[in-house]
Amino acid sequence: MSEAFIEVNQLVKRYGDGGTVGPISLTSPRGVIYGLVGPNGSGKTTTIRCMLGLQKPSGGEVRVAGLDPATEAKELMEITGYSQELPSFPPFLTARSILEITGKLKGLSGADLRREIARVLDLSGLVSHADRRTGSYSKGMLQRLAVAQAIMGDPELLILDEPMLGVDPAARVQMRELFMELRKGGKTILFSSHELYELERVADLVGMIYQGRVMVEGRVEELLSRRSRGLMVEAEVLRPGQVSPALLQSLDGVKGVEMDGSIIRVEFAEGVDGRESLSQVLVEAGAGLISLRTVNLTLEELFMEMVRSAVKH
Ligand SMILES: Nc1ncnc2c1ncn2[C@@H]1O[C@H](COP(=O)(O)OP(=O)(O)OP(=O)(O)O)[C@@H](O)[C@H]1O
Ligand SMILES: [Mg+2]
Repeated sequence: MSEAFIEVNQLVKRYGDGGTVGPISLTSPRGVIYGLVGPNGSGKTTTIRCMLGLQKPSGGEVRVAGLDPATEAKELMEITGYSQELPSFPPFLTARSILEITGKLKGLSGADLRREIARVLDLSGLVSHADRRTGSYSKGMLQRLAVAQAIMGDPELLILDEPMLGVDPAARVQMRELFMELRKGGKTILFSSHELYELERVADLVGMIYQGRVMVEGRVEELLSRRSRGLMVEAEVLRPGQVSPALLQSLDGVKGVEMDGSIIRVEFAEGVDGRESLSQVLVEAGAGLISLRTVNLTLEELFMEMVRSAVKH
C-alpha cells in the first residue's frame, strides 16, 4: 500500500457538554474509496469535520494530503470537494445557480464554467431539474446536488458525509458508478454511509467506528474473507419436513444448523468443506434439494459481529 494520504492518529474530540469522540485512528492511501461506517452518534461526522478543519480536535493528529487541516484548511479546500451531512441550500436558488456560485468560487468562468456545470449535472442525474428552485427538491435530489457541488472542478479528494442518505436505489447505483469512475481517474474518496450493501460493493477500504473508536479497518475483501467461523452453506429444499436438525448435526465437521422454513443453513468447522456430504444427505432424505450455495460474510454481518463483541467486552 502506498503512503498515507489521509491519516487520523488518536483523534479525540471533547464536546462542551461532556460528550467525547475517539480516540479514532484511520489511514487511507491515495486513489482509493474509503467507507466509514458506524452507528448514529459514533463519531463519523466529527471525524470528517476534523479532517476538513471545520472542527478543531481536542487531541491527536490529522493530516490530509500532507496538510494539517487545523492550520491549512484553505489549501486543503483547494484540492477537496466536500458534501456535508443533510445538505441544505438557499431554497429560492436553482441547482444551476448554486453550481454557478460554487464554480466561480473554484475559479471557473465563462465556457469552462458552463461545461463543468453540464458535466456535474449529468453525472449526478439532475439535468432535468437544473432550473428548478431547490426549495422544491426532494431529499434525494438535494443529496445529489450536494455531490454535484462536491465534484465541481474535479478535485483530487472527495469527502462525502452520508452522500447516499435518502437516495433511491437507481441513483445509488449511479453514485456507486460515479465513485468508481472517479477512482479510475486517480481520485480519492472518503465517504460515510449506513448503506452497508452499497459500501461493500464500492469501497476498497472500510473503517468501522463503534462507540467513538475505529474498531475494524481494512480492505473490504480481506475483512469479508477473514472469518472466525468456517464455511456457511445454505440449502433450499422443497420438503423440509423430511430433514431433522439431528440428521444434519451428524455430518462430519458440522458446527451449527439452522432451519428456517425451506432454507437450511449449516455451518462447518474451519477447513471442512461439507457441501458434498450435505447435498448427499438431503437427496437421500428425499428433501427435494433445489439449490445449495456458500454464504459469504457480508459487511452487515461483520458489523453486527463487531457490535456484539464490543458489548461483551
Ligand atoms: N456540536 C456538538 N455538541 C455536542 N456534542 C456533539 C456535537 N456534535 C456531535 N456531538 C456528539 O458527538 C458524538 C458523535 O457525533 P457525530 O455526529 O460525529 O456522529 P455520527 O457518527 O456522524 O452519527 P450519525 O450516524 O447520526 O450521523 C455524539 O455523541 C454526539 O452527540
Ligand atoms: Mg454523521
